[in-house]
Amino acid sequence: MMTILETFEAKLRKDPKSIVFPEGSDARVLEAVSRLLASNFLFPILIGKEAEIYAAAEEAGYNIRGAKIIDPQNYERFDEMVDLFVKIRAHKNMTEDKARVVLLHPNYFGCMLVKMGEADSMLSGATYAANDTLLPALQILKKEGDNHTVSGCYILDRANATGENTRLVMGDCAINVNPTEDQLVEICGDIIRCAKKFHLEPKVAFLSYSTNGSGKGESVDKMHNAAARAKAAYPTELIEGEMQMDAAVSPNVAKLKYPNSKVAGYANTFLFPDVQSANIGYKIAARMGNFNVYGPILLGLDGKVSGLSRSCNGQEVYIMAVCTAAGAGIEWE
Ligand SMILES: CC(C)(COP(=O)(O)OP(=O)(O)OC[C@H]1O[C@@H](n2cnc3c(N)ncnc32)[C@H](O)[C@@H]1OP(=O)(O)O)[C@@H](O)C(=O)NCCC(=O)NCCS
Repeated sequence: MMTILETFEAKLRKDPKSIVFPEGSDARVLEAVSRLLASNFLFPILIGKEAEIYAAAEEAGYNIRGAKIIDPQNYERFDEMVDLFVKIRAHKNMTEDKARVVLLHPNYFGCMLVKMGEADSMLSGATYAANDTLLPALQILKKEGDNHTVSGCYILDRANATGENTRLVMGDCAINVNPTEDQLVEICGDIIRCAKKFHLEPKVAFLSYSTNGSGKGESVDKMHNAAARAKAAYPTELIEGEMQMDAAVSPNVAKLKYPNSKVAGYANTFLFPDVQSANIGYKIAARMGNFNVYGPILLGLDGKVSGLSRSCNGQEVYIMAVCTAAGAGIEWE
C-alpha cells in the first residue's frame, strides 16, 4: 500500500504543479527545493535575490540549478499585482503607495503569485512566525463573498513496532482563538475532508474537560452543542462529543464514561475548544508521543497555502510542499 507521501507524489506526477517558497535562502527550504528539482513533478519558485539564493545554496551544499527565482523588486507583473491587491483590499482602504510597500514582503508577494495564477501553491514559516504566513493568506486567498471559517490542522503520524502507522488529525491548532459553535461545525466538515485525504476514516471527538454531561460550564456546552450540530450537518460521519481525551482514545475508559459510542475509545480526529488548548495539545502529543507532525495545513481557503514550524527540517519542508501542492487543505480539484 502506498504511503501518504507516495499517494500525493503520484497525484502530482499525473498533474504537475508549482509551489512558492517565500524563504528562498533558508537552507532547509533549499534542501527540499533540490529534491523537488530532481523529481520533476513539483516546480519550486523561490522568492528573493538570485545572487543571495545561489550563495546560500552553495554554502549549504544543495544544487538548485533550474529553480525559478523571482525578486519582487524586479518582477515584471508587479504593477498588475499592485492593482489587483488594491482591488482585493479596497474595503480596507488600500492605496497604491501602500500596496507597493506591502507587496515587497515575501509572504504577501507569494500569496499574490498564487492569486494571480502564477503559482499553484505556497509554503512558508521556516523562519517567519505563524501570523506572518496566516494574515496574508487570510487577506488575499479568502473565498470571495464567503464568510467560511478558515482553520489550521496538524497531521500526526507515527510508525508502530507492528509496522502499522498511528495517524491522528488535530484542529484548529492555528487560527481561531475561540471558535463559536457555528465555526466548530464548519471546521469539523473541513477537517473530515482533510483526514480522508490522509487515508483516515475519521472518528471525530469534540474535546472538553467533560464527558457526555459529566461536567458543567460554558465551554462544555459549546462543545456539546457543536458536536450535536455537526452530527446533524454530516449525518454519515462518525462524530461524538463532548468528551475528555481519555474517553476519546482509551477503549476501557470509554466503556465507563461513554458507553455505546462508536467514536469514544477509538477517536483519530480531534476538535479542540480553542486554539490555545489545541496548540498545547498537539505539541504534547508530538513531543511526548514521538509523532512526526505536519502542518498547519490551512483548511477552507481559496488557495493552497500551508505553514511550517520554525523547528522544521528539510525532510518536513519536502513533505509539506508535496501535501500542500497536492491539495491536502482544499477540496480536490
Ligand atoms: C489569524 C489571526 C492573526 C487573525 O487575526 P485577526 O485579528 O482576526 O485579524 P484581522 O481581523 O486583521 O483579520 C484579517 C483578515 O482575516 C480574516 N480572518 C481572520 N480570521 C479568519 C478566519 N478564521 N477565517 C476566515 N477569515 C478570517 C478577517 O475577516 C480579515 O479579513 P479582511 O481584512 O478582509 O476584513 C488571529 O486569529 C490569531 O492571532 N490567531 C492565532 C494565530 C497563532 O498565533 N497561532 C498559533 C501558532 S500556529
